[in-house]
Parts: sequence; structure tokens; C-alpha cells
Amino acid sequence: MCGIFGYVGQRNDAGSLVIDGLKNLEYRGYDSWGVACKTNGKVTIEKEIGKISTVERADFAQQCSLAAGHTRWATHGGVTKLNAHPHANSNQTIAVVHNGIIENYQEIREGLKQKGHSFVSETDSEIIPHLIEEYMKETDDFASAARRACKDFDGRFGFLALNTESNTLVAARRGSPLIVGVGKDGYFIASDIPAFMEHTKLVQYLDDGEMVVTDGTNIIFSDLETGEEIQKREIEITWSVEQAQKGEFDHFMLKEIMDQKESVARAVNQNEDQIITLAEAINNAQGTFLVGCGTAAKACMAAEYFFSVIAEKHVNFAPASEFKLYHHFLKPESLLIVVSQSGETADVLEAMKIAKSKGSKVLAICNVEGSTIDREADYSLLINAGPERAVASTKALTGQMAVLMLIAYAMNDKLREGQKLLLETSSKINDMLNPRYVNFIEELAEKIQDKSDLFIIGKSWNYPMALESAIKIQEVSYVHAEGFAGGELKHGPIALIEEGTPCIALVGNDEVKADIISNAIELKARGGFIVGVAPENNEVFDVWIKVPDAGTAQAIVNIIPVQALAYFLAVKRGKDPDMPRNLAKSVTVK
Ligand code: M6R
Repeated sequence: MCGIFGYVGQRNDAGSLVIDGLKNLEYRGYDSWGVACKTNGKVTIEKEIGKISTVERADFAQQCSLAAGHTRWATHGGVTKLNAHPHANSNQTIAVVHNGIIENYQEIREGLKQKGHSFVSETDSEIIPHLIEEYMKETDDFASAARRACKDFDGRFGFLALNTESNTLVAARRGSPLIVGVGKDGYFIASDIPAFMEHTKLVQYLDDGEMVVTDGTNIIFSDLETGEEIQKREIEITWSVEQAQKGEFDHFMLKEIMDQKESVARAVNQNEDQIITLAEAINNAQGTFLVGCGTAAKACMAAEYFFSVIAEKHVNFAPASEFKLYHHFLKPESLLIVVSQSGETADVLEAMKIAKSKGSKVLAICNVEGSTIDREADYSLLINAGPERAVASTKALTGQMAVLMLIAYAMNDKLREGQKLLLETSSKINDMLNPRYVNFIEELAEKIQDKSDLFIIGKSWNYPMALESAIKIQEVSYVHAEGFAGGELKHGPIALIEEGTPCIALVGNDEVKADIISNAIELKARGGFIVGVAPENNEVFDVWIKVPDAGTAQAIVNIIPVQALAYFLAVKRGKDPDMPRNLAKSVTVK
């Protein structure tokens, strides 16, 4: 949560460069923004409530070669201009942008107040420049003072601080990601690579408990605690600038839904030996657990069914935020599979920590290469979906399910069969997502846009897809949507169905088809307007969204038209599907 971006170097347009880069990080938070520049030897700060995407290139920061900025997702302190970052010290020589939470900020702020510091915001972040300023009275060295300040902080954080006197940027990380971009004419430091991707593809990752200081020419990484210097490799990233842009589409969400024409095939393209090794590791593990959050958690739930039906192996799913109490079952022979698009989700990292403390091994399935989860896991597989910018996760989910399904096939010595099925599914998705099909879904959205409630039912692996459908519709269109296992309806939720209530039934050509059709009939008998997502039509459907028959991969196919329906519901209702209210793309707080 919160986007951080800064630059120091030989360029003299650092202010507008930072503003442009922050626009690529807006998915991390978009309630307010701000940029600090060094002008005339002092910090000049521009901040506003609202989205940075609406801001033209700033003219306030001409001739500046040191800048740091932020897009905020508020935690401590409401959405106000004063609470927006950057925050400065009393002398306007230090500015800080911060991600995470400093838990003991009240205590530190009281101590600083007694030393004469005054504060203008309600944030925890504002103590950082003041505490560094206080320590600089003793050492004069910006980096040492920043290091000392970090030692006082409890909690998880990543911050970037600029100092006009030394003309340097310092970044420190304990929990929240920060990455250095190595440019030809300076250094970039950001919470995410898209901020600087158009300037450089060479990166250096800051690990937890590390700090970096740069004046634009030299750069030094060090241990946050001891100050000992650390040598870092430069790594070239593989994502292209085009992949991270909207192109011909109105929104990233629609682009990413359409990307699924190819992204499922990219997910399947894994190193076979590695998949077989991991399949063996799961087969041999004494207890395998699957965790993720939100949409990634739904991929884990679907995988419980894949592992049961395809590999005949029991694995245990838990939402990452609920994993804490599972620690009793963990031992060195256990395996934790974590699934995360961003690779930075705090609850998932916490689950990994618990597993590691018990000596268990961790397999990560991520989209973002070099993310914390990707690097900290014992084994890691990338789904290769390319950058996912919309807050609503779409192509990452189908990629995650494809990889998990591939592993399930490999566990039963049927890797080739799994590859064939998934590649065929990918080409069926390609055929399905044609303009006529997308228009049909748009028309359905038009028809039901004013409904206040929507229900989705599924069975087997379509049950987690029903839950996922509800998340998608809720988060972007703000329509009340709920997903159920079809068989659960008559145990309570059916009381909510009224004349005309839209109900989506996710159906496959499988052994549970008759059951889910019966559930749809029960809904129709209470007045439900039945939208069937199915390979074959059925008389119970008021509207039939045809999907290809994909066998065991049906869940991967069935979710796609519902993603599109959620998108069009948002657009028809005048909402921004890429940046839904109250949310951020990467949830780095617990
Ligand atoms: O980056 P992650 O996959 O770990 O993120 C997990 C969830 O925060 C994410 O899937 C969230 O639920 C999405 N907004 C759903 O579309």
C-alpha cells in the first residue's frame, strides 16, 4: 500500500519525473499524493487530495535533481492535505515518504515535542524526518542519523528520505518493499518497478533490514542494524514497458481480462523438471498447506479440489490471515504453498514466517519476480502474467490456477496430460474473448446494472469461483454480491431471493452438473433471474453465457466472463474499475 518514488542524479527535471513515475504506482494508493523537491537548497513540497493521474507535469519543480514522492492509501490519519506525504522536518531540509506503520509513533512524537518539534499531521510518518533531524544534531551525517532513527521504530516500514544538505536519498526497509533502479544518469528508488521502468530495467533489490544511500553517482547498501556494507547484484527485469500500459483499452482491468488470451499459456510454460520436483515435494510432505489472500485465496481453494480430484491428495487451505493457529500442525516435513500476485502481501509473509519458524519449507507461486515472497521462499514459480495494474486481480488468478493444476497433474505422473489440457484451454479462451462475446456481456451488464443484489452459485471448483465472482463484482461495481456453494442455498441464503434477483450459476460438464442445475431451478422457483455460465444451454437459464467445455480446467474458463461482467457493471454504474474506493493493489499491512 502507498506508492513511493524518488530520484537523485544529473537530470534537472526530477520533480516531473517523479510525478510521472508515481502515476504508474497509483494502484498502490490513490487518496492523495505529494512530491518534495530540492529547490534553492531547501525542500519544496506540493501535495493534494485526489488522484495523481489527473495532475499535469508539475511546473513548481523546474531545475531540480533530487525529489521524492508518494501516492497514499491512508492508515494513520484521514485523507487530508496535511496528512498526505511527503512530511518535512522543522528546517525544511529533510522530506520523507513512508509506507507501513510505525507502531510506537505516539511515544516518539511525545519525546520529540518535548525537544521542541511541532507536528502538523495526524500521521505516524511525520515523526521520521523530525527524529532524523534530532539525531543529525549529534552526528551531522544523514545516513547514520536515519539508521539510528530506524532502531527506534517498532513495526513494518519502508521509507525514502531526501536531504537537501547532503543532496542524498536514503531508503530503509523493514517489511515494505523498496527497489533501486540503476539509471545512466542517476538512481531511482521506488516501492515498485513500474515507477522507473521507462528509464531503466536494471534493478537492485533492498532486502528486509537493509538501507541504501545514494547521491546519484555513488550508491551504498548496508545492514540497517550494524551498518556493515552489503554488495548487491544488478538484475535485469524482463517485463516490457508496453505490458505495463493500457494500450488501446479504456482501463487496465479490461486489458488484463483480455490478456488472458495469452497469459494462461505463459503460466503453463514452466520448467518441467522443476514442476516434477515440486510435485514430488508435495507428495512426500507430511502436511501441505495452501494460503493466500482475497483472489489468490480463491486460487488456493480451487487447488484443494484440483489436488483432490487430479492428484488424490489432501491439502489444507486457509486464508493467510487465519493461518496463525495452524502452527500446531507444522513440522520440518510440512510444506506451505503461498500464492500471491504481488509477492508483497503482509498476511502471506506472516504465514511464511510462521512456517519457517517451524522448519517447514515454503513454495511460492507469484507474479512479480524479485518480490519479497518470491525471494524469501525455498522454491518459487512465476506465473508470468505480466504486470497486473488494476486493483481487481484477473489474469493473475487464472495463471495461479493453471500452475497449481499443472502441479496436481505432475503429482499423479500426468504432467503431459495437464500441459495439453491447459494449452487447449488457453486457445479456447483466445477464441471465446472475441468482440461479439465481450459486447454480449456488456449488454447483460446494461440490463442488470440497477439491481442492488446479485448471487453467484457454483459447486466443486466452481464454488471458489462463485466466491471470487462476488469479490470481483463487489470491489469494482459496489453492487452487493455473494457467492455460495449451490447446495448451501436451501440452508439459509435462499431467503434473500426475490422476483428478478440476478443469480449466476457457474456450471461445467462434470459430475456435479445435475446438482448445480437443480440449485438454479430452486432459485428460479423463488423468482431468480438465472444467468448460466456453462458450456451447454439449459432451459433454466434466462441468459446463457456460453463458455468452452474445458473439463477439469472449467473453473479457469468460467471465471472470465464474470470478470468482464464485473468490469462492465462498474463502467455502466460510473465507477472507476481500475481504482475502486477504499482499496489498494498491494496490501502490505496486516
Ligand atoms: O498480491 P496478492 O495476490 O497477494 O493480493 C491478494 C489480495 O489482496 C488481492 O487478490 C485482492 O483480493 C484483489 N483486490 C482482488 O481482486
